[in-house]
Amino acid sequence: MAHRIAVIAGDGIGPEVVAQGLRVLHAAADRFGFELEITEYPYGTEHWLATEEILPDAPFAEIQQADAILLGAIGDPRAPVGLIERGIIGRLRWDLDLYVNLRPIKLLDERFCPLKGKGPADVDMVIVRENTEDAYVQEPSFEHQGTPEEVASQPMSYTRKGTERIIRYAFEVAMTRPRKHLTLIDKANAVRAQDLYTRVFAEVAQEYPEVETAHLYVDAACMRMVESPESIDTAVTTNLFGDIVTDLGAMLQGGMGVAASANLHPGKLGLFESVHGSFPQAAGKNIANPLATINACVMMLDYLGEKDAAATAEAAIAELLQGGRIRSLDVGEHRTDEIGDLVIDQLAATSLA
Ligand code: IPM
Ligand code: MN
Repeated sequence: MAHRIAVIAGDGIGPEVVAQGLRVLHAAADRFGFELEITEYPYGTEHWLATEEILPDAPFAEIQQADAILLGAIGDPRAPVGLIERGIIGRLRWDLDLYVNLRPIKLLDERFCPLKGKGPADVDMVIVRENTEDAYVQEPSFEHQGTPEEVASQPMSYTRKGTERIIRYAFEVAMTRPRKHLTLIDKANAVRAQDLYTRVFAEVAQEYPEVETAHLYVDAACMRMVESPESIDTAVTTNLFGDIVTDLGAMLQGGMGVAASANLHPGKLGLFESVHGSFPQAAGKNIANPLATINACVMMLDYLGEKDAAATAEAAIAELLQGGRIRSLDVGEHRTDEIGDLVIDQLAATSLA
């Protein structure tokens, strides 16, 4: 049976990086003998400007029937701040209840790491970011707007259910990794509402005696990620802090050109996307690095059960980075489609031992 993939290429560099991701998916399908049924959707800022539609209910219902979603990028200065991001990325994450945002941070070659003296053995972590709660999903309010007494608020709120399921998922991830080490990242000393994370983490830990646990406040976690990234293996955190620490983490593995993520709800469809934004200044110039989106496609293949295809593509990408055929991950170093060509060539040449 074909894997049904819904594609929203979105704004800015989204379409051109998604095009390369799709080429790699098709190459993997040909080589490993599975079928893809791709449906592309036009949503994004351009579509909103032309039609005033963001993500209408009918296509949203159709997208839910897919096996996976590939998202390019959303964000364009011509739309009000946050409108299209919340209407597309937010709606997909929240209304599909994709409560896990899984963000691996894995350095493949020392020359891509900005930290002195750190290499692939030091930077290999997975951040499990909660994806359906926190300030993100609360309505903002502006009382006495425009007056000297104005009060703006958007609460950081957490449910027991939401906290427990993300922490349990993170323990499961930690169990699959050699170190079996899980760090809770929060700011419970200042945001006392996060005491819920403290308590639930301690409770769920009882069910996983094999997992060694640690705790860091988010400020110290940022310091630690730079000073001693090897001290972090798997980490679990809230939505907002997860957003922030994964941009920091992306830089440790070579920058926004490579960082990928999966938005998941076990047993349901997954949404796969790069960590980077729409980078409007580079749109249409064929200079953006599509590896982040290609890496997201690799995560998708793994999720769809195409384990050999995923592992082979991962090995092919590692070879390109370690062998130096991809010289740099920075914008403009390679053309967008050139990276696609390199990955497809190397995929054809790679066999798993
Ligand atoms: C991300 C992005 C989004 C987020 C934005 C575009 C709303 O930064 O996926 O990390 O904050 O979650
Ligand atoms: Mn972000």
